[in-house]
Amino acid sequence: MSILVTGGAGYIGSHTCVELLNKGYDIVVIDNFLNSKCEVLKRIEDITGKKFKFCKIDILDKEGLEKVFLENYIEAVIHFAGFKAVGESVKIPLKYYYNNITGTIVLCEVMQKYSVKNMVFSSSATVYGKVKIVPITEDFPLNATNPYGRTKLIVEEMLRDLYISDNDWSIVLLRYFNPIGAHESGMIGEDPKGIPNNLMPYITQVAAGKRDKLYIFGNDYDTHDGTGVRDYIHVVDLAKGHLKALEKIMVTKGIDVYNIGTGIGYSVLDVVKTFEKVTGKNIPYVITDRRLGDVDKCYADSTKAYKELGWKAEKSLEDMCKDSWNWQKNNLDGFVH
Ligand code: WQD
Repeated sequence: MSILVTGGAGYIGSHTCVELLNKGYDIVVIDNFLNSKCEVLKRIEDITGKKFKFCKIDILDKEGLEKVFLENYIEAVIHFAGFKAVGESVKIPLKYYYNNITGTIVLCEVMQKYSVKNMVFSSSATVYGKVKIVPITEDFPLNATNPYGRTKLIVEEMLRDLYISDNDWSIVLLRYFNPIGAHESGMIGEDPKGIPNNLMPYITQVAAGKRDKLYIFGNDYDTHDGTGVRDYIHVVDLAKGHLKALEKIMVTKGIDVYNIGTGIGYSVLDVVKTFEKVTGKNIPYVITDRRLGDVDKCYADSTKAYKELGWKAEKSLEDMCKDSWNWQKNNLDGFVH
């Protein structure tokens, strides 16, 4: 019996594969390497000492997917594969809708055909859009404000309709807040192509001397120090949340949604100061204009995941900064773009 991990060579997918293998699961990984590297799969094996099956497949390749289901006894799917850059989604929305939504439709059709009806879906807090109050609970109104977020919202609704049409499905939607950090080994981590969109990889590249300074997008937000507040969660805590969700879908039918965050909001300056304290590195910065689409505050109330999945985040912002820097240092010249 195997767990199929789509996008398993990606940032969150690879960390989840490590936790799955360490827990004794057999896994099959599919990835098209558009936003990841084959080398990651070798590093997952090196970290865990475990072998696993891999197929280079795009989730839109129905025949290729069918072959995976024919050749392996898949009992559940953890579905990460998808495009995830907010800014890019504004520029090329059709590619995002086609890849993220049609790709999930193809996957679900093949799952249905082979009677595999257990899925953990990688969703995002971006489905909440601009919220009026925090912390955010799962029953907040949903209001994605960009094509990427809308693909996540549409897939959530599609999966709800799928369950209504066939109560044999067992689905958990995980809404991630801001995943950062890396595995303690420093062998896998976030490896953005080109200029990082997200805060932490930009900070680590400044620390590594690949960028001369951090640009802080606005300090006039309604927060304790004026800079944007987010719920940063260690990617290993996030990965462990997937194993708890997997346990749930293996024993209950239905569809449910959980916020996966720490419940603590940190500002950009909080992150910069913590990173400097933990690493001893100086992070020069300038304050620039706000970034279009950014919100003042966004952090989770994750008590539902604790009560129903028995999951809560354990790692601190210090851990996240330490592990992010360890990953960057170990991959200064080779692996990282
Ligand atoms: C965090 C804070 C920025 C970069 C995004 C996606 C979301 C999810 C997580 C997929 C904000 C500030 C950032 C920089 C800065 N991804 N910042 N300078 O925007 O909260 O969420 O990633 O699901 O969908 O929207 O994360 O890391 O881009 O920004 O000042 O160079 O850091 O303004 O306040 P964000 P982020």
